[in-house]
Amino acid sequence: MIQKLYDRYICPHLINLAMQAKPFSKQRMKIIPDATGRVLEIGIGSGLNFKYYNQTNVKEVFAVEPDGVLLEKAKFRAKENNFSLNIEQLSAEKLPYEDNTFDTVVSTYTMCSIANLSAALSEIKRVLKTDGKMLFSEHGMAPDRNVYLWQKRLNPIQKRIAGGCHLDVNIPKAIKDAGFEMASIDSMYIPGPKFLSYHFWGSALIGK
Ligand SMILES: C[S@@+](CC[C@H](N)C(=O)[O-])C[C@H]1O[C@@H](n2cnc3c(N)ncnc32)[C@H](O)[C@@H]1O
Repeated sequence: MIQKLYDRYICPHLINLAMQAKPFSKQRMKIIPDATGRVLEIGIGSGLNFKYYNQTNVKEVFAVEPDGVLLEKAKFRAKENNFSLNIEQLSAEKLPYEDNTFDTVVSTYTMCSIANLSAALSEIKRVLKTDGKMLFSEHGMAPDRNVYLWQKRLNPIQKRIAGGCHLDVNIPKAIKDAGFEMASIDSMYIPGPKFLSYHFWGSALIGK
């Protein structure tokens, strides 16, 4: 009961605030300007990527977001940024789009929260055009054993306070296991607590 109230009335607002932190914005700047054509954002949250799109290269932006509060915030932010946004209140595990629809799929800080990540990645692969790309910036499994052990210990708390977020997702493995090839990938600790700050970002293509 308390968890439900927290998830509904507090968590989305905390996510909106936390995700505006400067180190995350710097990460967004590294990948979002590469989006082109018809774009799909999965788990768009409150729409914090809008200001980093190169509007000349982007034709239209679609998005799915399961949380109603975040979805409304994303709609509001889209208007503020003069973006026409086609958003649906849905999870990424089952996408309502035809095969081969998008030139770019964007995931920023969403893969950690998706209950069935392999199902979502397989849907992303299905809706991406064969020459499309997935742009991602995600936190995940740290390379240092000590930090990784803390990620494991803190996972149960993190899941409860941060909308189902897992700290130790092996992002490159999940993406490759879903049949993508990395076109580019970088990783490092960004500023912040180590258990939360090991980042992977880059671009993945549909593997041959
Ligand atoms: C930490 S927030 C990141 C939000 C946003 N992408 C950003 O960069 O600010 C995680 C997001 O994943 C969304 N989410 C959780 N489960 C999901 C699912 N199964 N499919 C799609 N999005 C999901 C949450 O509602 C939330 O908006």
